[in-house]
Amino acid sequence: MPLDVVIMAAGKGTRMKSRLPKVLHRLGGKPLLEHVIDAAAQLNARSAVVITGHESQVVQNAINLIAIEALNTPDKAIFNAYKSMNSVMQEPQLGTGHAVQQAIPVLPDDGMVLVLSGDVPLTQVDTLQDLINRSGGDKLALLTIDFDNPAGYGRVVRSNHFVQAIVEQKDANDAQKAIKEVYSGIMAVPAKLLKGWLARLDNKNAQGEYYLTDIVKFAVGDGLTVVAHKIDDAAQVAGVNSPVQLAELERVYQLRQAKTLMEQGVRLADPARFDLRGELMCGQDVEIDINCIFSGQVSLGSGVKVGAHCVISNAVIADGAVIHPFTHIEGEKLGVSVGTGALIGPFARLRPGAALGKEVHIGNFVEVKNATLADGAKANHLAYLGDSTVGERVNFGAGSITANYDGANKHRTVIESDVHVGSNCVLVAPVTIGAGGTVGGGSTITKSTPAGALSVARGKQVSIANWQRPKKIAK
Ligand code: UD1
Ligand code: CA
Repeated sequence: MPLDVVIMAAGKGTRMKSRLPKVLHRLGGKPLLEHVIDAAAQLNARSAVVITGHESQVVQNAINLIAIEALNTPDKAIFNAYKSMNSVMQEPQLGTGHAVQQAIPVLPDDGMVLVLSGDVPLTQVDTLQDLINRSGGDKLALLTIDFDNPAGYGRVVRSNHFVQAIVEQKDANDAQKAIKEVYSGIMAVPAKLLKGWLARLDNKNAQGEYYLTDIVKFAVGDGLTVVAHKIDDAAQVAGVNSPVQLAELERVYQLRQAKTLMEQGVRLADPARFDLRGELMCGQDVEIDINCIFSGQVSLGSGVKVGAHCVISNAVIADGAVIHPFTHIEGEKLGVSVGTGALIGPFARLRPGAALGKEVHIGNFVEVKNATLADGAKANHLAYLGDSTVGERVNFGAGSITANYDGANKHRTVIESDVHVGSNCVLVAPVTIGAGGTVGGGSTITKSTPAGALSVARGKQVSIANWQRPKKIAK
């Protein structure tokens, strides 16, 4: 049976106290809503429809972005959910039943409908698949869980073990309030049945809302069995209502990712001090010290060591490279690549387009942007290499920079192989330093230099003998 997913995301999220709609707050670097849409995609859903309401235009724009990005990512592009992503507006918001009613026009009759909430990000795909299986194509299946403190949730009322109804907190009597089994907000139900029941909803209840949960009593009244799929992992049904809950779920999510990596053999100094906001691929014997943040797409080759407090995004780090503490690698769109056995940092900054060869050394307070450094090149202290092509074994001295920007345009600097640039030099681009050449410390180089030459461009040293410093004049 084809699967169509309905994602409720019209609520305001008042307790976030934020201008950003709740479902767009980020967990693990991506919007809550995207986690839910990704789950729909992994379930191989035929379509996904998001119910928007509060700030619907902002949410709509985010949905479009999520779809476009997914369709540009080869492994995500295969899923129909992204291709057939819809959104419908719910205005005003009269309850969860009213929310799902808005989706009726876009829901085909022959499908299984899975109802999810945009603010419940960590439900596992296998849990949802189990729920769909329990529905069996002809039953209403509810995802439930026992809570010691069920306050605020809809209670699952049973008789002889059979589910009879869901009663909302505000409508519950004392006996019902004592029930620990609660409805998670997630259900699977055949579209045909759902549509029939939605048409019968009313709002005669304590909150004056159209409750989606009322369809349970309709199902029972129609003589159908309602199945409850009870799980015990609270994080999978936990919603985000406040910054505190968002942070709690973030830690749950990060710990999950950390465990997955450790099971693959990655050695994390402390899984509680590890953050991955994207995807991380690791070879064998990778070691990551505390408080590192990885985002975008990062790949670490075998034997790579990442020191404490590094921030790394969109980078490919080859086998055996060592990233010393406090290094910032920001690949963004162009990416950063670090060659085999390279030594980076501490306190290094690699910006978009930095492409470093084997055994390259980048030391403290060195910034590299849109520059290629061939095998064995070194810039060990306090330097800037921007828009440059640097040859093999070049040694770029402390305090030296490429002046790549003339105030209007950027120009390239070429430093051919085996060049030695002394300390505190300025290479004013466009300029080429010929192979094997040497640039004397303190030089400002504005013209290209021949191969093998020593080039010096600075004021000549003058020493005046017996120089008397001025003396203080007595008043
Ligand atoms: C709902 C369930 C309750 C369950 C709980 C689990 C109902 C009537 N109750 O209660 O049984 O235990 O979830 O968390 O369904 N939304 C809309 N439009 C609306 C109202 C809500 O899109 O008009 C969205 C919200 O943005 C949210 C979701 O639906 O994503 C749930 O709404 P919420 O108001 O939080 O429902 P609860 O009262 O918590
Ligand atoms: Ca809620």
